[in-house]
Amino acid sequence: MAKYKIATIPGDGIGTEVMAATVKVLEALSKKTGIRFEFSTLWAGDEYKARTGVALPPETVEAVKAADACLFAAVGNTAKEVILPLRQSLGLYANLRPAKAYPGVPALKPKVDIMIVRENTECLYRMVGYRGPGFGVNLRIITSQASERIARYAFEYAVKNGRKKVTAVHKANVLDYTDDVFLEATRAVAKEYAGVRYDEQIVDACAMKLVLAPEQFDVIVTTNMFGDILSDEAAGLVGGLGLAPSGNVGNEKAIFEPVHGSAPDIAGRGVANPVATILSAAMMLEWLGEAEAAERLEAAVLKVLKEGRVRTPDLGGKNRTMELAEAVAAAL
Ligand code: NAD
Ligand code: IPM
Ligand code: MN
Repeated sequence: MAKYKIATIPGDGIGTEVMAATVKVLEALSKKTGIRFEFSTLWAGDEYKARTGVALPPETVEAVKAADACLFAAVGNTAKEVILPLRQSLGLYANLRPAKAYPGVPALKPKVDIMIVRENTECLYRMVGYRGPGFGVNLRIITSQASERIARYAFEYAVKNGRKKVTAVHKANVLDYTDDVFLEATRAVAKEYAGVRYDEQIVDACAMKLVLAPEQFDVIVTTNMFGDILSDEAAGLVGGLGLAPSGNVGNEKAIFEPVHGSAPDIAGRGVANPVATILSAAMMLEWLGEAEAAERLEAAVLKVLKEGRVRTPDLGGKNRTMELAEAVAAAL
């Protein structure tokens, strides 16, 4: 039976809580399927920095590289020193952020099923900038190479997953230097995929349409910062950040993580919703080639959500993180 080395980074705040819950579910899945997981726990984040002066030790980066896949929960204020260097140094150029409404979940928009394909290496996230007296600069860098690569990823995703349309989201009406580069690359790729419809939307109007008529979206491909904002918005349409998983995917490596952060407002109480991290683990299994196990895990989550007997407070219930994880484990 297959055996995988899974590097886990629990991080800070609710990160440690949702990671413990997810590992518990994966151990139950292992018993059912025979797939073996060898978990390692790696340091990174605010607490680690407070103790050592570094947020992301080189040993953590090396261990992520040596693992078959990595599951990351959340860190706090050091996120830009932790997850950004991991995404960029490992070449994880595609950030996949599905927003799907599940039966039984109090979702604002119950018919949504969108895949946001966010460029994950450049834009404002290159961290090029400076402070001067009374001003600050953050440079937005967009290249043809990264734009072409993410557009191709989005169209390939559409073809492989039976999606009908790819919408490129941009702000070329104002940010012309950068988003002309993004759109030129995206349009050229779109021409190669005659079977997938292609359209474009300006990001502000897209934000509004996501609220009013999200059913019109299928796959969205966009630059890094817009993808960050629109993916939280899309999560809000389908029940909130407690349910939103993601994958940072490159050609060789991948890190899977919930879209949410360390949630200091609810941390330490054991009430965070672990589903976003559990569904990220399902995405990880699919990426590892374990499609059947991934489906089994997703089906167990869906069953628990649909039944609605075990719910964390974000879903209107009174249950705790571990109770929800135990319910998913039992539903496997
Ligand atoms: P957040 O995503 O941590 O929380 C936003 C809101 O959603 C909060 O009200 C929180 O309680 C709620 N929420 C989030 N996850 C939840 C869950 N699993 N269950 C129930 N409710 C949940 O965003 P924030 O509060 O703006 O940021 C807090 C910290 O997290 C910041 O320091 C930020 O830098 C960091 N952050 C880290 C990452 C990451 O590690 N990848 C991602 C986003 C934010
Ligand atoms: C996310 C987070 C990160 C991002 C931050 C915390 C570095 O918001 O994963 O969505 O902006 O990408
Ligand atoms: Mn974000």
